[in-house]
Amino acid sequence: MHLNSVTVRAPATTANLGPGFDSIGMALDMWNDLTVTRGQFSVSTTGEGADILPQDTRNLVVTGLEAAYNFIGEPVPGLQYRCTNRVPFARGLGSSSSAIVSGLVAGSALSGANLTIEQLTILAADIEGHPDNVAPALYGGCTVGVRNGTDKWIVDQVKVPEELYAVLFVPEEQTNTHESRSALPDQISRTDAVFNIGRAALLVNALSSGRLELLKYATDDRLHQPHRTQAFKAMPHLIKAAINGGAHGAFLSGAGPSVLALATGREVTISYEMAETARTHGVVGKPIIVAVAHEGASVVSSS
Ligand code: HSE
Repeated sequence: MHLNSVTVRAPATTANLGPGFDSIGMALDMWNDLTVTRGQFSVSTTGEGADILPQDTRNLVVTGLEAAYNFIGEPVPGLQYRCTNRVPFARGLGSSSSAIVSGLVAGSALSGANLTIEQLTILAADIEGHPDNVAPALYGGCTVGVRNGTDKWIVDQVKVPEELYAVLFVPEEQTNTHESRSALPDQISRTDAVFNIGRAALLVNALSSGRLELLKYATDDRLHQPHRTQAFKAMPHLIKAAINGGAHGAFLSGAGPSVLALATGREVTISYEMAETARTHGVVGKPIIVAVAHEGASVVSSS
């Protein structure tokens, strides 16, 4: 059956989770909606990023949808894209991935191709360049993704305790991921590699076994956080405040500037401690308490 319109939702995501730079990510229960309807091309956005995002073919929802059609070798039809964005834009919460993934899932459904989640992951990770936001946006929960060869991505899900919550502090200031990545060194010492390898493994094991007391060691990092502290001096203080408030572990979410704490209780205290620390360091922003999303992007309606 030829669909005329498809509505898709895709979640926010947090990437890196401390030591899992460009590899580990987790979906959060905060969603962007995209409706695509056959008609003359247009893009409209309401909500987060509406005043900044391009309302033309440069918008990543269009990039995602076109990637699905290009993959199956069919021409892209004329479409109206309507975005309702709730994921804070350019704050390290996967707004780009949410857009790419929602476009891909919409294109897959509208074209009738019904691509597999593995195919969607490869297409999405190729657009984004790394899988730590797009994979959890597609699978839900926590994922580990690695590149295998030049054109494949291997993704697996990590079991996450149902009661796990994320406490975020989301600064008003935006981060340009491209610029933030260019501040990172190309080479690291063996000591730092060992530091992160052990912690990334410990992180995955702690989440899947439920031994959350290990997270205070397992969320530490030497690959990106120390370098990104130069541009965001309050970061280590926010991480410390979250731990003092009762979080199991805390880290810079993606390229930042949001800081995310993992908790199973005391969420309000943690958010208060983070907000107070932000205030004393002159960082304007807001705390948000959000559950882990155990489902990934999906079609919510079609006609
Ligand atoms: N792993 C990525 C980074 C996530 O830290 O730069 C942001 O796209």
